[in-house]
Amino acid sequence: MELIICKDYEELSQKASEIIISMLKENPKSILGLATGSTPEGMYANLVKANENNEISFKDVKTFNLDEYYGLDPENDQSYRYFMNDKLFNHVDINKEYTRVPSGTIENPEEYGKKYDEEIENAGGTDIQVLGIGANGHIGFNEPSDVFTPETHLVKLTEKTISDNSRFFENIDDVPKEAITMGMKSIMSAKKVLLIANGKNKADAIYKSLRGPIDPKVPASILQVHPDLVVILDEDAASLL
Ligand code: PGA
Repeated sequence: MELIICKDYEELSQKASEIIISMLKENPKSILGLATGSTPEGMYANLVKANENNEISFKDVKTFNLDEYYGLDPENDQSYRYFMNDKLFNHVDINKEYTRVPSGTIENPEEYGKKYDEEIENAGGTDIQVLGIGANGHIGFNEPSDVFTPETHLVKLTEKTISDNSRFFENIDDVPKEAITMGMKSIMSAKKVLLIANGKNKADAIYKSLRGPIDPKVPASILQVHPDLVVILDEDAASLL
């Protein structure tokens, strides 16, 4: 594992975007596994700038996102498809047909999950998977559980996640109670994993994930066995290490 501790969020976003930028320079056909949430927003803003400056192109890039709220259609401004369009895809030269975000409106999540994993596998797996982390240690929406679930699947969100994410909604009752998330197989098959976290509220999850036992009750702890894990933290998120 490579651990990079940054003085603040800006530096974290800079370092994270540098990794993607050099990957796209080396391989303009990279397959990116992407994440939503507050943490990667600064990284996406830097990628948009790098595209505007013609430093990188997304023309031949394919993307697979981690998760989507179940029940939200792509036009809903709380959906993760909307987030990705708004923060990255609408502002770069990507072909939207090459971008995948799990659908929140499918009827058979089990069958859909298999197809999503197959599509990732057929593409040869992602070259990099970007991950934020929940304060409860979740990655994607793989919530603390008794087992690690390999497939892309439907999950019930925990009270903690619903309350953490309610900041994006008018009312906590508006937060969807379920989500579709990539499972551990597709996450762990990424050639490189980039975990980013900032803020004191992530310090405990980071400590348990990186220094504790590998335990599905701390889903991110599985990353300890990934052969190419890069963790970029601000000083607050790293404060318990
Ligand atoms: P955040 O979410 O980036 O909005 O803190 C991270 C996550 O829940 O995975």
